[in-house]
Order: sequence, then structure tokens, then C-alpha cells
Amino acid sequence: MPNKLITNATLATMQDDQSYGLIPSAAIAIRGNNIEWLGPMSSIPRRFTGQSVERLDCGNRLITPGLIDCHTHLVYAGDRASEFEQRLQGASYEEITRRGGGISSTVKQTRAASQEALYTRANSRLSGLMNEGVTTLEIKSGYGLDCDNEIKMLEVARQLAETRQIRIQKTLLAAHAVPPEYFDQKDAYIDHVCNDILPAAFEAGLVDAVDGFCDEIAFSVEQMERVFDKAQSLGLALKLHTEQLSYSGGAAMAAQRGALSVDHLEHLRPGEASLLATHNTVAVLLPGAFYTLKETIVPPIQALREHKVSMAIATDLNPGSSPLNSLLLAMNMACTLFSLTPVEALAGTTISAAKALGMDKVIGSLEVGKSADLVIWDTDNPAMLAYQIGANPCLSTMISGKWRKHTLRDNA
Ligand code: NIG
Ligand code: FE
Repeated sequence: MPNKLITNATLATMQDDQSYGLIPSAAIAIRGNNIEWLGPMSSIPRRFTGQSVERLDCGNRLITPGLIDCHTHLVYAGDRASEFEQRLQGASYEEITRRGGGISSTVKQTRAASQEALYTRANSRLSGLMNEGVTTLEIKSGYGLDCDNEIKMLEVARQLAETRQIRIQKTLLAAHAVPPEYFDQKDAYIDHVCNDILPAAFEAGLVDAVDGFCDEIAFSVEQMERVFDKAQSLGLALKLHTEQLSYSGGAAMAAQRGALSVDHLEHLRPGEASLLATHNTVAVLLPGAFYTLKETIVPPIQALREHKVSMAIATDLNPGSSPLNSLLLAMNMACTLFSLTPVEALAGTTISAAKALGMDKVIGSLEVGKSADLVIWDTDNPAMLAYQIGANPCLSTMISGKWRKHTLRDNA
């Protein structure tokens, strides 16, 4: 692979979550998979000016780190459009769940689907995200809820990672809902997760992290603690869906155990923000679910900000609470619905999202030594990414030093 030099760029390096880290009239040099140098055009090192270096002039356009969608349920069968209609007629997400709809209805359809069928559907959703500059995403299981079907979902995630040019983190979310065969036996299902599903998925090499849904309609703090005990005994990282529909205390518990992230957080108590800061736990905000469920209580953004908690933004792409196939739109929603600034929104899908996946040593910012994952945008202003609605200014994407989408070159 030839070394590469991209010139005439406006770099938003995103080395921290407080500023874009802008370098105007800049260049970036790539050797192999990694960023070897970046800085002003006036000081490009001589070793990158030779004939053998592949050069690209990007006409002062913006380059950011590759976008990271750190919370998705990309793999599932069917849809829940009829529940959308029910909610518009006044039914709540919780009511639909208690009637046997919600997550359970996707579980039924996902169990019935073949691995190939799941792959085909997930692959086309993945293309939508990748076209907008996503270079890394997380995929959760959680619609199988037994050994074979949780593993089937994670196998699809692995297959996507092997067949598409994308980095994928796999999260086991077996403690997402109670499957029908354990109706009214939540504790017995949690035993099954700890004794069977988690060890089997781990043995198969399919688990990077363990997640759960801590809520009245799902699992209690104590039940999640049992899953986390098992996960930690295997050395796995933790994440938790919590404080979404009601307050449970799950975020405090997860942070105290050093979880990578706690996600949703509409009902997080402002006084708990300091715990997240102390334990370096990222607050993952999911405005697509807030919007879809017409929530009115906003996560305590000001408290998170004051305590310098890293805030990530993700699509939560799933068929029920967030059928949102656009990370750029999630950024826009985070600004309009949660009052994040465009800087916070871009940090939320780059450096802070990398932290939420425990990958910030490798990706998330434009920095010497990190993987050359980057996007060239058809603008020179980073605020445009969160500002526009329904536009896609992504021209070219590079992952690990290899071009993927490359409209800038192909149309030149
Ligand atoms: O992140 N909160 C729980 N889990 C998902 C919803 C999944 C579904 O409704 O299918 C979420 O919002
Ligand atoms: Fe989710």
C-alpha cells in the first residue's frame, strides 16, 4: 500500500471533547494503516513529498475522524411499524411491551430468521451508515435470548466485519428482555444468561462487551449485578441501558463497576453525574429513542457537562424505539432535542464514542499513531455536520489507511 498525503485540508482533529481542534490549510500523511504526521501545509516532512507517495488535494474541504456509532441493534428481523401506529393512537412503549409486543415481537421474528436472512437485512442497514462516514460501529445481540439465537446474531455481526470494510465491536445483550419460555421467571432467566448464554458466546469468541436493560419492564439492578459479576469474571467490559423509562439506580451501579458506558439516561439524577466522571464512564445519549417515544424528560446534560463526563451520541438503530438509520441525523437531534453544541455532537460520534467502546487509543481522533480512519466532507465548516437535516456531505472515507467510498477522487 503506497504512503498517502492528503493536502489542502481543514482538519477537525477532535483530540478532546471540548473543541474541534481545527488546523486550517493542513495536510495529513498516512503510512500503512496509521496516521504518521499531520500539520500545516507549510511543514510537510520531506519524506512525504516524493514520487511514490499517493497525493490527494482536497480543496480545503473538512477532514474529521471516521464516525463511530457506539450503540446499535443493527441485526434483527422484521419491523415494528404496527407498533408505531399503536403508539400514535396513544399506547405507550411500556404498554405494548406488557401486552407481549415490543422487544418480544422482534425476538419471535429474529428466532425464526436464518443467519443469511439476518445478514442481508443488516448489511443494507450497514450500507446506510457507512455511506455517511461511519467507520466503526457496535452491534448488540438481544433479540435471540437463548444460546443458539444470541450466537446467531453475533455471528452475523462477525460476518459483517469480515465481509465489509468496517470495524465492528460485538456486545452480548442477552439480558435485554425475558423470553417467553421464562415468563414470570426473571431470576431463572438471569441464571441461564450467566451459566449458559454468556459462557457459550464468550467461548465462541463473539463478545467484546456485555450489556443489559435495567428497567422496571426488564431487569433490576440486582439482576444486572449478577450478569456483570459473571462478565467481569471473564474479563469483559460492561455497558448498560439504564435510566431510560424510569429511574433504577443502574447507572450508578454500572459506573461504580467501571462500565465503559451507561446509555439513554433521561432519568439519571443530576447528582449522579460526578460518579460517571470519577469512573470515566461515558454517557451515551440516544436522541432517536427519545424522539421516537416522544419523551419529554431530557437527560441532565448540564450536570454531565459541569462534571466533564464524556458524552457520546449513537443511533440506537433498532426496530422499536429508534428506527434511525442515520448517525448524522442523531447528531442533529442531539443538538436540537438535548441542546448539545455542534462541537459536542461531533465529539459524541468520534472521540467520546471511541471511549464508549474502549477503543480511544486506536480510533476517535486524528492523531499521530492512531489508525487512519477519516472522512472527507463537502464543506469546510464542522458545524455543518450537525446542522443539516437529511443531507449527506460525506465524499470519501478511509479505514485503516485504505480508501473505501472515494467520490472525491472518482469524480475528479
Ligand atoms: O435501546 N431500551 C431497550 N432496548 C432498546 C429497544 C429495543 C426495542 O424496542 O426493540 C433501546 O431503546
Ligand atoms: Fe439500545
